[in-house]
Amino acid sequence: MSIDKDDILRLTEAALNVRKNSYAPYSGFYVGAALLAKSGMIYTGVNCENSSYPVGICAERTAFSSALTAGEREFAAIAVAGGKDMKGPEDFCYPCGMCRQFMAEYCKGEFEIIIAKSRDEYRIYRLDNLLPYIFELDTTI
Ligand code: THU
Repeated sequence: MSIDKDDILRLTEAALNVRKNSYAPYSGFYVGAALLAKSGMIYTGVNCENSSYPVGICAERTAFSSALTAGEREFAAIAVAGGKDMKGPEDFCYPCGMCRQFMAEYCKGEFEIIIAKSRDEYRIYRLDNLLPYIFELDTTI
């Protein structure tokens, strides 16, 4: 683990705080994410649902989209906090498969994923543990 305690706390608090902006009227499952770019900047995201369900986007991809739009291309870690209703979260919310693949486009295997229940209850994983044997296209041909 290379991310330091201060960054873990900054990211965890940002993910927990931004959850209140989650737009999740269909599932009632509110997710916040906070992404740390190697520049030191933090970009947040929430899940944005849609009445046409598959159109909705997860908090992790929203955070990445915001960072990429700002010109960021290198990332250190992301914190994710999600659960039913606005309380809690009562459980650890792991990124879905689509988000893992999305992250793998922009991050190396050592990218860290913090899954938080509260500011002092969290688990940290590497991207290559959550998504081994990633799919990649060779862009040199
Ligand atoms: N969701 C996320 O935003 N991130 C995750 O890691 C898991 C799921 C969202 C998608 C949908 O809006 C709601 O949670 C229920 O699946």
